[in-house]
Amino acid sequence: MSKSLSKNDAKQRIEKLREEIRHHRYLYHVLDTQEISEAALDSLKHELAQLEDEYPEFITSDSPTQRVAGVPQDGFTKVTHSRIMLSLNDAFSFNDLQEWEKRLQRITEQAFTYYAEIKMDGLAVSLRYEDGVLVQGATRGNGKVGEDVTANLRTINDIPIKLRGDYPKVLEVRGEVYMSKKQFEKLNKAEDGKYANPRNTAAGTLRQLNPQLVADRKLNFMAYDCVTDLGVVGHSDVHETVMEYGFPSNSYNTRCNTLSDVQKFYEAMMKKREKLPYWIDGIVINVDELVVFRDLGVVGKAPRGSIAYKFPAEQTTTVIEDIQVQVGRTGALTPVAYLQPVQVAGTTVSRATLHNDDEIKRLDVRIGDTVIIEKAGDIIPDIIQVLPKLRKKNSRAYQFPRKCPECKTPVIRGEDAVAHYCPNLDCPARHRERLYHFVSKAGLDIVGLGPKIIDQLMDIGLVHDFADIFKLTADDLFQLEGFAEKSAMKLVNEIKVASLTTLPELLQALGIRHVGEETSLTIAHTFGSFEELLAADLSILNAIPDIGDVVAESIYSYFRDKAHKAHLDELLEFIEFDKSKKIIAIKGSNVLDGKSVVITGALSKMTRYEAKKLVRQHGGKASSSVSKQTGYIVVGDNPGSKYDRAKELGVAILSEQEFLKLINS
Ligand code: IVH
Repeated sequence: MSKSLSKNDAKQRIEKLREEIRHHRYLYHVLDTQEISEAALDSLKHELAQLEDEYPEFITSDSPTQRVAGVPQDGFTKVTHSRIMLSLNDAFSFNDLQEWEKRLQRITEQAFTYYAEIKMDGLAVSLRYEDGVLVQGATRGNGKVGEDVTANLRTINDIPIKLRGDYPKVLEVRGEVYMSKKQFEKLNKAEDGKYANPRNTAAGTLRQLNPQLVADRKLNFMAYDCVTDLGVVGHSDVHETVMEYGFPSNSYNTRCNTLSDVQKFYEAMMKKREKLPYWIDGIVINVDELVVFRDLGVVGKAPRGSIAYKFPAEQTTTVIEDIQVQVGRTGALTPVAYLQPVQVAGTTVSRATLHNDDEIKRLDVRIGDTVIIEKAGDIIPDIIQVLPKLRKKNSRAYQFPRKCPECKTPVIRGEDAVAHYCPNLDCPARHRERLYHFVSKAGLDIVGLGPKIIDQLMDIGLVHDFADIFKLTADDLFQLEGFAEKSAMKLVNEIKVASLTTLPELLQALGIRHVGEETSLTIAHTFGSFEELLAADLSILNAIPDIGDVVAESIYSYFRDKAHKAHLDELLEFIEFDKSKKIIAIKGSNVLDGKSVVITGALSKMTRYEAKKLVRQHGGKASSSVSKQTGYIVVGDNPGSKYDRAKELGVAILSEQEFLKLINS
């Protein structure tokens, strides 16, 4: 097409194309809308590029084609900022905000309101335009002097290289360069999880000498300030005006009359945070009235009229003071890192799980290491990365103990070859854990009897094993810390109540390795009584559908162990099997007949354990993994990857409400 154009027509066509491309860029990047498809826009860009190829004399540096990355540079030149790039003081609570407001009110007599903004988690840059054309873009550096990264910034589509509208002759806009979560994940997938977070990656990217690499990484930009006096009244007007010039500003930003409105915005954003396509680390609050804002001035390196109200960090760094191995009731050894206490996501943590020896080796985590910990939903955080550069010179790799830390029996590796076990069935640590489990919700559910009381009872020698719990009197309990006469009697009564149980419940309470709720029920249904079960040999156990060799072997050897057998015999003297309860436990309705049901996320009306029980009572099978065979997934708050997988596979999704409605129908 271009061949047929005269030089003059080509020039005009080039100009028209540029206008048109700029218009669509503005719609897409600033207003978040589209009039034509990306493919159509690409085609316009292509035509423009061809024309410019043919008539290079018409190429201007503000042409949309000039976004394409130039040649690699040798280094960055320093840029002295026209006005110092300040930072912000932080607030972490509503109280901090109130103190800040009081300080402002002491300094100024004028009334003011607020403009609350999203605090983007990226890095600050300053962009300078002359006659509407981007001439220089610089990083913050030390606030006074930054680095000229113009060539890199030109590759960011959110940044206009030519302004729109009625712009001033010289304009300087500041904002945050960031990387979207999606882009970060894509990059990390391609490069084996090399990058720690989108912020560092964006910062590292912007300092790349090769603009092509920057272009490939697809960074983003959001404006939050303007150095040039735009002659407007409020900071909110600054945002509106720079949007007209072609800069994206966060659409969540909002004016607030009071701090309580600010607090509402903060809480709403905290809830939304996870679903946003980019990382944010809080909100920024500015005094909206620019006259007042200027009057308030600067304190230290921060403007008095702005404050960053940070979200509680979900990741933080700390130092590992010790690694200790804990022995579970099945003998599994779990390494636990003891941390220098730190705040993560609003709570103080001092321990993190290391899962197993393989995980320790994978992370190469050592005592004394500085590590990044992350809390995602769970109470106990995970260690996600070691910072080896901060490691002491003489540090040595962690050696997983060869002997059980409690009873010194040599440890063995489990069938899964991941976990280590203490094989000693009489290991005191295992014993203790077995008792914790026995009285817990997953066991006989003795209300008011938890690990702390068990510890005390074991320490004073009143409880050695299961049966001892049923021998406890109110007088025994009365001696313990925190017990009054009434509470002691109450617990004795709870213990009595718990002694009336069902076969599957008791089986599960014993804490036999690999024997959870499902297996306990299967065994109970198969044998009907303890006597029958004890008489069964290995081949019979092996023949039960749904019970594999490993599980069968575990059950068989449990009851062949002399100590276990003795404890069990003694225990059975105190237990009464509730036949009526057993019927109820097995039969509710048939609405879930044969269906496999997965529960994910936090439920509000019941525990997950109770929900699973309900599933079974109504004929279903509680399962922990999602597959094509899954009948329903019941989704609570903050569901994890199971929910995503269920959506992918088209599994029927139920809320907690819907689930309750279904089983009560
Ligand atoms: S106003 C005086 N607004 O947060 C500095 N900053 O912790 C002007 N940031 O260096 C900052 N989003 O890089 C402001 N909406 C926003 C922001 C924001 C992210 C960054 C910025 C600044 C840092 C201060």
